[in-house]
Amino acid sequence: MLILGIESSCDETGAAIIEGTSKSKKVKLLSNALATSLAMHGTTGGIIPENAAREQVKFIIPVIKEALEKAGVKPTELDAISVTYGPGLIGSLLIGVETAKTLSYIYNKPLIPTNHLIGHIYANFIEQENQTIDIEFPAIGLIVSGGHTDLVLIKKHGDIKWLGGTRDDAAGEAMDKIGRLLGLPYPGGPNIEKRAKLGDPEKYNFPTPLNDKSFDFSFSGLKTAVLREVKKQQINDQMVNDICANVQKVIIGILIKKTLRAAREYKVKSILLGGGVAANQTLRDQLQEEINQANLGFKLFIPERFLCTDNGAMIASSAFYNNQIQNWQKVDADPGLYF
Ligand code: KG4
Ligand code: ZN
Repeated sequence: MLILGIESSCDETGAAIIEGTSKSKKVKLLSNALATSLAMHGTTGGIIPENAAREQVKFIIPVIKEALEKAGVKPTELDAISVTYGPGLIGSLLIGVETAKTLSYIYNKPLIPTNHLIGHIYANFIEQENQTIDIEFPAIGLIVSGGHTDLVLIKKHGDIKWLGGTRDDAAGEAMDKIGRLLGLPYPGGPNIEKRAKLGDPEKYNFPTPLNDKSFDFSFSGLKTAVLREVKKQQINDQMVNDICANVQKVIIGILIKKTLRAAREYKVKSILLGGGVAANQTLRDQLQEEINQANLGFKLFIPERFLCTDNGAMIASSAFYNNQIQNWQKVDADPGLYF
């Protein structure tokens, strides 16, 4: 079955076509189109929701057209249309949701409203050319993005239990805010990663947040600790590198520790990562290394970098596996949607 996935929850406008095969339960990526207003938000040091929504209006139709053209699929040939209906910025969400509803009505296609967070997990199921992915359940999912940090237990498709999440800033949000404190370009995440490579992670010793038995996270204290350091003295380039190296170490350390503890406790077979922060190479490498070293037997799945950040393909993939068709008249954007 051919599914169009539409994503517009924040500053990325994504559309993709996937082909799902019911018999083998596999999803192949046929096309993936993306536009982003990221550079514009660099000029304001972060996202102004109104600006992001206006850009969504500009991008949505060209991006959907591009996805269809690249896949060589006509709208009439689609089996379903899926769209992110939450969580996210209301203005941005509305653009994708209303476009998807209109397409569903015009072409008389089933509409599948999709949870963005679950979408990040389902990026792991997308196969590209000559690729086979075999994910076994139960699995632990770690969603680490600009808006969310959540640990979930996935017993089977459609059966997801929330185990814990951030009590304040998300991991990506903390990196973006710390990046701004250090004068780095927006978004902070990838820039902290770059600068961390040039720094010594042991020069600073920022506190590990919420290092306890819960599956919750807290990153705002880390931001305050960096702010205190920055206010104390003039920070030069090397100090920025060293701060970035320690901040990255602390954030990755606690993410890995709690993910592995959840995986052990629930005796899972797989760990699935998702969200923009999962693009971080140190997180990817270190988690795999710790799994190998401890010989824990979990299989780790991390989407390719372009499928970690927001995209339409993960939305179509989640729609295929969870397949909750809704009448278009009943679908509304839900900015505060959770698990
Ligand atoms: O999933 P995403 O594209 O959007 C949300 O749903 O929030 O994630 C964006 C977040 C931003 O906070 C960005 O700084 C972070 O992902 N990010 C990274 C990296 N690439 C993006 N964080 C750390 N290292 C990276 N390489
Ligand atoms: Zn996201």
